[in-house]
Amino acid sequence: MRAVTCRRYGPPEILRIEDLPRPVPGARDLLVRVVATTVTSGDARIRGFRCPALFWLPLRLAIGLWRPRRPVTGMEFAGMVEAVGDAVTRFRPGDRVFGLASVGAHAEWLTVAEESAVAPAPAGLSDIEAAALPFGGLSALIFLRDIARIVPGERMLVIGAAGAVGACAVQLGRHLGAEVAAVCSAANIDLVRSLGATVVQDRAVWDPGREEGRYDVILDTAGAGDPARFRRLLAPRGRHVLLSFGAAGIAWMLLTALWPGRRVVCGFAGGGAADLRFLRDLAEAGRLLPVIDRVLPLEAVVQAHRHVDAGRKRGALVLTLDPVPG
Ligand SMILES: NC(=O)c1ccc[n+]([C@@H]2O[C@H](COP(=O)([O-])OP(=O)(O)OC[C@H]3O[C@@H](n4cnc5c(N)ncnc54)[C@H](OP(=O)(O)O)[C@@H]3O)[C@@H](O)[C@H]2O)c1
Repeated sequence: MRAVTCRRYGPPEILRIEDLPRPVPGARDLLVRVVATTVTSGDARIRGFRCPALFWLPLRLAIGLWRPRRPVTGMEFAGMVEAVGDAVTRFRPGDRVFGLASVGAHAEWLTVAEESAVAPAPAGLSDIEAAALPFGGLSALIFLRDIARIVPGERMLVIGAAGAVGACAVQLGRHLGAEVAAVCSAANIDLVRSLGATVVQDRAVWDPGREEGRYDVILDTAGAGDPARFRRLLAPRGRHVLLSFGAAGIAWMLLTALWPGRRVVCGFAGGGAADLRFLRDLAEAGRLLPVIDRVLPLEAVVQAHRHVDAGRKRGALVLTLDPVPG
């Protein structure tokens, strides 16, 4: 099968398309024929091994000290179940699915555990659209619902609102009952407004100093503001949520947890099949729209990584795979 591989950490040009054996599903696995996948900010980070110094060693130990231990790249996928292991009960060959794997989605075939983040794909969405939802959707859901613990009526600000996570956060924030404001570049203002943000500001001219005490939750997907500066924007029990953070972010989180009041919170997104089914239901009801920057063939993976590295992606960048003969 064709698969994108990353056999050392480095720039986009190190990626290769290789011909590899098709993976074999275990008893509790699905074999998925991947129709669409994406290049996420997470894929680009792992390829380039861009991470704060604090996480360098733990992350290298987890994914490969000298080179990626599992070379096939890619997390998000949509496609069709080709075969299932003997112990699988919830899926059958022919089911359309979408999901988020840890690696291996940039390939014609992928095996995923039945119990992992895989669910029936949303009816009415194409594979390209379905593949655009899991990474941004699960990240936004976990950060808003579980980490920020947003409640209806709260005022929320999304910084970096046009990216994969930001575009889902604007929509999920509305769904969770928040009043959503957003900051993005001028070219993305109309898009972000169409997703449900009531006030959208151009990040080139945005003046945070004029919004003191305004927000219950600030979701900073862009690593745009240092906590000291953004603290004044928070309401008395407001939470400043950092998606990208290092030692300083963790220090802020620990310090602000010591007494009641404004807090900095950081964490890592996870999410499983139940969360994915929640996103699917929203997508089927038209309340979570996929935002797609561009669609490229798998062979353009280097170009795709260069675009993600530039940091200006709108929603998801989708890669498509030709149907496998037979
Ligand atoms: N902790 C976790 O578990 C977790 C999970 C998922 C993602 N993340 C992190 O979250 C971040 C966002 O991920 P993503 O997938 O949404 O990224 P993405 O799709 O590449 O989008 C990034 C967005 O950031 C905006 N941006 C770039 N520079 C900015 C700046 N200086 N100020 C404000 N906005 C800026 C860009 O929009 P404009 O051009 O409109 O400004 C772009 O749309 C990444 O750093 C990723 O690693 C963390």
